[in-house]
Amino acid sequence: MKVLVIFASHRIGGKNAEIEKAMCGYADSFEFDFVHLANCKIEGCTACNRCGESGYCVLPQSEGDRFQEIYEKMVSADAIFIISPVYAPIPSRLTAIFERLTSVLFNAGLINTDNNPLLNKKTAIFSYCSSGICDETPIKLIFDRFVMKNYRFDLSTYSYLNKSLYPKDEFNDITEYVIKTLEKLA
Ligand SMILES: Cc1cc2nc3c(=O)[nH]c(=O)nc-3n(C[C@H](O)[C@H](O)[C@H](O)COP(=O)(O)O)c2cc1C
Repeated sequence: MKVLVIFASHRIGGKNAEIEKAMCGYADSFEFDFVHLANCKIEGCTACNRCGESGYCVLPQSEGDRFQEIYEKMVSADAIFIISPVYAPIPSRLTAIFERLTSVLFNAGLINTDNNPLLNKKTAIFSYCSSGICDETPIKLIFDRFVMKNYRFDLSTYSYLNKSLYPKDEFNDITEYVIKTLEKLA
């Protein structure tokens, strides 16, 4: 099973490195593709609307932008883990990915259709800060629109791989929360 793991932190090392190391302990069961947004340039959407004609984002990869590559990884992965620190509120590169995902899916007429390549994708989303596990609901609310035909703005209703209401009470830390979710996928 191909698992795309997007670490949204803008720094290499730190908590995200600890989580990655723990996930690597499961490399016999999963084919991981770790993407570190710390290494990725992701431009914001420029509202050119060209994705409406082409179906893909035309912002040039030649300038080092990684969105299209990451989008294709998301489409081809069997499962996606998005693991994000709190950056008051969400890291800008992850926000830029969401911005362009919305554009690509919406302008190409894929959102809310059976042709949406992310529809029903196995997905887990995590949020953490220096003091531990944080509420991932705000990120899930954004992501719902990429994986569901009908989504709400006030309540996340997608069946995420991690759906604990009070993860702080269930897990000692974010690494354990990620690993327990991964184990359920095996
Ligand atoms: C720009 C920025 C904004 C942050 N904002 C918050 C915040 O609002 N609340 C909080 O608890 N931690 C905040 N943090 C701390 C990070 O969430 C925390 O250090 C986290 O462990 C970083 O992840 P990493 O170790 O994987 O890089 C912020 C860090 C940065 C760099």
